[in-house]
Amino acid sequence: MLILGFESSCDETGIALYDTDHGLLAHALHSQVAMHAEYGGVVPELASRDHIRRALPLTQNVLDQAGKTLQDIDGIAYTQGPGLSGALLVGTSIAQALAFSLNIPTVAVHHLEGHLLAPLLEANPPEFPFVALLVSGGHTQLMRVTAIGDYELLGDTLDDAAGEAFDKTAKLLGLGYPGGPAVAQLAASGKPRFKLPRPLIHSGDLNFSFSGLKTAVLTLATKNALASPDNMLDFQTKADIAYEFQEAVTEILTLKCMTALRQTGLNNLVVSGGVGANTRLRQSLTAATKKRLCKVHYPRLEFCTDNGAMIAFAGAMRFKAMQLNTSHNLAPDNYSFSVKPRWDLAELQKP
Ligand code: KG4
Ligand code: ZN
Repeated sequence: MLILGFESSCDETGIALYDTDHGLLAHALHSQVAMHAEYGGVVPELASRDHIRRALPLTQNVLDQAGKTLQDIDGIAYTQGPGLSGALLVGTSIAQALAFSLNIPTVAVHHLEGHLLAPLLEANPPEFPFVALLVSGGHTQLMRVTAIGDYELLGDTLDDAAGEAFDKTAKLLGLGYPGGPAVAQLAASGKPRFKLPRPLIHSGDLNFSFSGLKTAVLTLATKNALASPDNMLDFQTKADIAYEFQEAVTEILTLKCMTALRQTGLNNLVVSGGVGANTRLRQSLTAATKKRLCKVHYPRLEFCTDNGAMIAFAGAMRFKAMQLNTSHNLAPDNYSFSVKPRWDLAELQKP
C-alpha cells in the first residue's frame, strides 16, 4: 500500500510517501522558520498562506523522487490536529480534494501520534509496549505505548513545555527563534558556574514543571546584567546561563524517564519531538538507559521536528490495521472533513 502523508499543523509543510512493503520512499519539507523569524514566533495567517503555496509542488517533488505518479497512491494521511486551525485546514482540504479526485480513502492522523511513532521509521525499531517521552514546543509528556492508538498518559507538564522553556530562555538571552537549537549552540561555549532549580525532580510522580525554571533564568540574567558596568550580559555569562539551563532540563527529563521505565517495568524508551534533537539530552538519556540495561530509540534528527514522514507512517499503520480489522473497510468516504486544533491524544482510538 502506498500512502501519501501531509503535515501542515504549524510552520512546516511536510509531504512524504510511505510504502507498507518497502518503507519510506521519499519525503520533502519546507520550513517557514525564516519567514516567521522577524516576528519572533509563528504568525498563523502567514503560515496558512505558505502551506497553500508549498503543498502541491512538494507533492510533485516526492512523487518524482520515488518515481511514482498520483495514480500509484492507495491512500492519503493528513494531520487533522492539534495545531493552528488555518494551517490544518490547508493540509486537510488539499488531502481530501486529492483523494476525492483519485477516488481513494483518507485517514486523519493526530500530530502527536506522528511524533510518537517517528522513531519506528528507523532500523531496529522497538517492539510494543514501550515508554515514550514526547518533548516538543507544546508538549512534555511521558506515555506508555501499548499499540497503535493505545496510549496511556503517565506524566505531563503542569505548565510550560520543555521546548517552550528553551524558546523563552532564548528570547531572554537575545537569541533568535526557534530557541532550542540557539540555546544548545550557546551552551556549548558555557561552563558550570551557576545553579538553577530542577522543579519537581523529586516529586516521585512523572509530572513536569518548567515555568519556575524560566523565572529562575530571568532572575539570574537580570541579576548578572545589573551587576555589569553596562547593564548588559557578556557573551560568557550568557553561555554559562544557557549551559546551566540545558543541564537542568536534561537532568529533569532524564530522571523522569528512568522513573517511568522503573515504574512500568518496560525496557525500551522512545524519544520524540523537537527537543529530542538536543545533543546533550541524547547523551544523557543514552548513558542513563545503558546503566539500567534499557534501550533508547530516537528518530533521525530531521524527523524529531515536524515532518511529513511521521504522518505518512502513522497513517500507513492505521490503514494497515483497518485492513486487518474486518469491521472497517477502506472504501472512499464522502470526503467531508473538519480539523481538530485542540485534540487530546488520550481520546485516540485503536484503528
Ligand atoms: O516538535 P516540534 O518541531 O514542534 C512542535 O512543537 O510540535 O518542536 C519544536 C520545539 C521548539 O520549542 C524548539 O525550540 C525545540 O523543539 N528544539 C530544540 C532543539 N531543536 C528544536 N530544543 C532543544 N535543543 C534542540 N536542538
Ligand atoms: Zn510537532
